[in-house]
Amino acid sequence: MFQMIDFDTIDLLAPAPQGEPMRQYYFIAGLRKWVQDREKALGRKLTFQCRTFGCQMNAKDSEKFAGMLEEMGFVSSEEEATDLIVYNTCTVRENANQRVYGHLGNLKTIKKKHPKMMIAMCGCMMQEPDVVEKLKKSYPFIDIIFGTHNIFKFPELIQERIDTGRMVVDIWDGTDMIVENLPSERKYSFKSGVNITYGCNNFCSYCIVPYVRGRERSRKPEDIIKEVKELAKDGVTEVMLLGQNVNSYGKNLETPMSFSALLEEIEKIDGIERIRFMTSHPKDLSPELIQVMANSKKICRHFHLPLQSGSSRVLKVMNRRYTKERYLELVNHLREAMPDISLTTDIIVGFPGETEEDFLETMDVVEKARFDSAYTFIYSKRTGTPAAAMEDQVPEEVIKDRFDRLLKLVGTISHERTKRWEGQTLPVLVEEKNRQLPDYVTGRLEYNTVVHFPGDESLIGKIVNVHLTEAKGFYYMGEMEG
Ligand code: SAH
Ligand code: SF4
Ligand code: F3S
Repeated sequence: MFQMIDFDTIDLLAPAPQGEPMRQYYFIAGLRKWVQDREKALGRKLTFQCRTFGCQMNAKDSEKFAGMLEEMGFVSSEEEATDLIVYNTCTVRENANQRVYGHLGNLKTIKKKHPKMMIAMCGCMMQEPDVVEKLKKSYPFIDIIFGTHNIFKFPELIQERIDTGRMVVDIWDGTDMIVENLPSERKYSFKSGVNITYGCNNFCSYCIVPYVRGRERSRKPEDIIKEVKELAKDGVTEVMLLGQNVNSYGKNLETPMSFSALLEEIEKIDGIERIRFMTSHPKDLSPELIQVMANSKKICRHFHLPLQSGSSRVLKVMNRRYTKERYLELVNHLREAMPDISLTTDIIVGFPGETEEDFLETMDVVEKARFDSAYTFIYSKRTGTPAAAMEDQVPEEVIKDRFDRLLKLVGTISHERTKRWEGQTLPVLVEEKNRQLPDYVTGRLEYNTVVHFPGDESLIGKIVNVHLTEAKGFYYMGEMEG
């Protein structure tokens, strides 16, 4: 967690310190002066924008970029042309990459009109050498390219760009470094993501994440707890613990600690009322975790347990290390311990070699597990992963047909599950003003279901009791109770 630093007291005549994060504080301090000078020359504030793709990890990293930029004196803006724009990219599926290239086309036009605009590209896509080559060659107007392992270096890279006047490219292959105490800006005042692990060691055969995020590293429990305590002091009531596989938290720490033990520590922190986590790999889901959850007053009764496929044969080729039966057993354990729990999942359709029988096994698990909702993805070939080299890639029209059937089943079950609280009154954490209906707000049940109800902005961040009048598909319309 970031402790207030008086950047103006940093001696800029001294050489930059070697240790982190002190080194970056030094560059932030220098850039503060630079921003002030530019402001004077232009007669206005300098602006920035951060566009984020992908998962919660990227969202959290973007909050760090915003935090650093605000310490430099940049102000956030939604305008099309800002003085600095950061693209925090994702490469988990090919369409994510395509979207970024689309945006870059637009940026080229914008930069022609605003040549001083600085463009920084970062995130998972930048860890792919082919992507960086393509950017260097076809998009020379980009100012800074960096990856996932050195996000803390952002201030230094901006300084380098200013000093050299050339495109700065800094990509690391990997790291065992965890830099704490970076400035961070929060998108919401009342809830926050908290990293607990970085990277992934699982190498599911379709997935690029271990290649672009590196090996799994756990943050020290004391750093996590300190951050959560400070968030609580700052008015945060809900934390989401983040990792590619939170269930393997702490295994490689000097003093190993289990994820369930970490949860018990976080439960003790005053002011935190809701605890969530993302994501759990079924192979590492322990009975202790289920017990800790069942006994907890703060851990939300929502479990996201990615299935990927219901076919034990496909799961084996995916290198997921559980079977259909084991997955269903875990679902039963969760439901036995917490009958009200809401379960969500991720499913991939069209993994290489997936047959109709394999697909029907997936449909069968969906029928049996009765997910509250499911994210369904069409398999996307990621160069460099073992699955990309597999023969018998499934034809597009077969995938499309299976995808539609799956979506229909998931939708039907999800509607039926959502309806289960209709007519009841449950606590809702109010998150924001409703985007469509004036004088309405939107919040979430602990089960993660969205609720819209009449109310004003003053409710944002509060937990209030809401009568769930009507279930509409995936969400509720409700009325607040006095
Ligand atoms: N660490 C998390 C998932 C991170 S990626 C986990 O193990 O659950 C989020 C989701 O994207 C995955 O659960 C998977 O369903 C999907 N995904 C990953 N690689 C994919 C690919 N190559 N094609 C389609 N979907 C993919
Ligand atoms: Fe990818 Fe598997 Fe790691 Fe999740 S656990 S990030 S799906 S390799
Ligand atoms: Fe995408 Fe990287 Fe997350 S590839 S899903 S942003 S870890």
